Amino acid sequence: MSFAIAIDGPAGAGKSSAAKKAAESLRFVYVDTGAMYRTIGLYMLENQVRVDEEEALKAALDRIRIELKYEEGVQRMYLNGEDVSDRIRTPEVSEKASVVAAIPAVREKLLNLQRDMAASQDVVMDGRDIGTNILPDAELKIYLTASVEERARRRYQELIQKGEECSIEDIQRDIADRDYRDIHRETAPLRQAEDAVYLDSSDMTLDEVAAEITCLAKERM
Ligand code: CDP
Ligand code: CDP
Repeated sequence: MSFAIAIDGPAGAGKSSAAKKAAESLRFVYVDTGAMYRTIGLYMLENQVRVDEEEALKAALDRIRIELKYEEGVQRMYLNGEDVSDRIRTPEVSEKASVVAAIPAVREKLLNLQRDMAASQDVVMDGRDIGTNILPDAELKIYLTASVEERARRRYQELIQKGEECSIEDIQRDIADRDYRDIHRETAPLRQAEDAVYLDSSDMTLDEVAAEITCLAKERM
């Protein structure tokens, strides 16, 4: 029997950073589901697919092959055989990912891939609908959030460190728009599962968040 930790919450809450650390200390596999939506978003952007046209969208989805590979323990995303791990981290792709994530056919394509990954190994999986929809029987569910100001500040720092020019106001607006779309979509919206532990990371360090998740997991193992 494998053990699954589901971490959901809005953008910039610290899900992937905390999930990665917790996975390391528990020796679980970290699965970043947002990267899968980003990869589909990237394909649609680069190929100028009209995602609001059903036929065009379906044809494009049929052409997309997504693979996750682990290189020295780090998840890499492959799109039709090409490593796109770095290219999926731009603000344009963030926006497109959240638009395509509202389309049922897109979610359908990723559902089994995500469930299969959790069936065969112990995972820490993060996203928006992991505890509510993908892994409803996960042994531990966390709803991780933080104020929108703090989340925007974190993303801003990240982009500045990468040498990218950006304004914190633009980032906060992008994050708020994305949250709104993720919460209000019909299919698998972002919400806290009834049995999820609520964690507000606004005043917590990354290490504190990861330690809390690791501790909760150990209690249930
Ligand atoms: O995955 P998610 O969008 O929820 O957030 P993330 O990408 O893990 O975290 C966004 C940024 O916030 C990262 O650069 C983290 O290092 C930082 N962070 C932080 O400074 N303090 C925390 N308690 C959590 C994250
Ligand atoms: O890292 P950040 O929180 O900015 O975003 P992400 O986790 O990489 O996810 C990008 C987008 O994918 C989100 O804004 C969601 O619209 C979508 N997503 C989703 O709908 N369901 C998931 N399980 C994961 C991501």
